Amino acid sequence: MSSPSNTLFLILLLVILISSTSSTTSGEDLHKQALTLAKSGDLQGSLKYFRGAVRDEPTNHKWVNDLGVTEMRVGELKKAGTRFLTSLHLSPSYSRALKNVQQLQTFVSPSEWVHLYAEWLEADPGHGFIEGVEPRPLSTGQRHKTKNLPVVTYESLLDPGNETVAEFILGAHPYILVGAMDHWDISAFSESSLVSEFGDARVDYYPQGMKEESVHPFFSDLRDALKNFEDPDGLYDTVDASSRNTYIQWNVRAAEWERLRLIGMDLPPMFRTDDSWISSCFSPLDRVDEFLVKTHWRMVLIGQTGAGMFNHKDTLQSTSFQAQVKGRKRWHLCSSEQDRNMYKAGDINAFNPDYEKFPNALDLDCFDDVVESGMMVYYPANYWHQTRNLDPFTMSVSGTLVTDGNNEPISKEFDRECDTSKGVRIFNPEEKLCEGLNKCKEIWRMKSWKEDMAADVEKVVRMRKGASEL
Ligand SMILES: *[C@@H]1O[C@H](CO)[C@@H](O)[C@H](O)[C@H]1NC(C)=O
Repeated sequence: MSSPSNTLFLILLLVILISSTSSTTSGEDLHKQALTLAKSGDLQGSLKYFRGAVRDEPTNHKWVNDLGVTEMRVGELKKAGTRFLTSLHLSPSYSRALKNVQQLQTFVSPSEWVHLYAEWLEADPGHGFIEGVEPRPLSTGQRHKTKNLPVVTYESLLDPGNETVAEFILGAHPYILVGAMDHWDISAFSESSLVSEFGDARVDYYPQGMKEESVHPFFSDLRDALKNFEDPDGLYDTVDASSRNTYIQWNVRAAEWERLRLIGMDLPPMFRTDDSWISSCFSPLDRVDEFLVKTHWRMVLIGQTGAGMFNHKDTLQSTSFQAQVKGRKRWHLCSSEQDRNMYKAGDINAFNPDYEKFPNALDLDCFDDVVESGMMVYYPANYWHQTRNLDPFTMSVSGTLVTDGNNEPISKEFDRECDTSKGVRIFNPEEKLCEGLNKCKEIWRMKSWKEDMAADVEKVVRMRKGASEL
């Protein structure tokens, strides 16, 4: 063992003596177990216990520091740095964490330090500079150009005389739609009613959030996944679940989607244009759910504060909408004109880019906005998007769409998926599914997109007029 590690080991031992208390919560047990493993030299093994303890008690500044010490010893320096900052944020006079910051700074370059400090500051609006910790970042957050999304009212979309909105609906511009969820029964989407209606639904569950590209889901039913929001526990071997960043991705099956509608989800006509072709292509082959699940066509997304999706473009070239049911979600959206400035999926944290590492990001020109409960967001094919939940229980419903503008590229993407010589990319091309997709491509090719849309809108307008005259 090298000497810095020995010093840290002593610090760790001291922490054991200082932090042992009489109460036995599960976090307490996890922390004890972590210390035992660390003492025996199994640092890697101790990590998940330290992380579990911090997940259980995120405000325990000593445990947060202990986790940082262990991460520093196994070489996860960036993470260790943010733990020491958090520990000092929780207890500014905790000299042990301050010493650990100084120790860490001997292992990282000043610019690495400043960047991790900036990331930590930006990650939580409650974070601020820590007294006595230098150097400080000169700036945090975005330095590239962003603007708010255009806001379109549902009323105006239904007004055939409004020329300006014609280009929105399912067009080539992203927008926020207000007034389209007025008829939703939001109470049907409470945690308890979701559990009673859909408790058995199979979901992908990310206790560590989805902020990095290389994340793999755990699988559970919705009931168990939601339990973790209230009582965040569990030990995760392969991921760092120390923060309460749980993200649930529920790939909604056809019967569940119907049930969501029955209990109160009321989608505007342009976001339901996929119903008829999905049923024509896949029902006779009994492949509706396979299509929906494998493509993540329709999802309910539930996440805690800070959880979100890393920056990426959808591979299928599909268009999407998302209805914000509960809580607020921040969105960063960029057209494909920005490809050059975006590098690879997951490279740039659009909310706080590392401009030194990715200098083109300074030239980005994008949208950044907060979508609140009761609003919907629409974005066309090929748009970069990154999201972050801003509330402890944030829920949205998303759907994918084929439109006049994207049906040709989507058809090509599905051809690639179904070409077995190309290997698995998004889903395992199964014969029946590809047969259904071929049928869809034919339907999309023949469809009168604009006329069908106008007819749908007309129907809603007539329905509303009828309703208001009653
Ligand atoms: C047309 O729609 C836009 C977007 O919702 C709205 O701002 C504008 O006032 C509408 N124009 C008319 C004439 O209603």
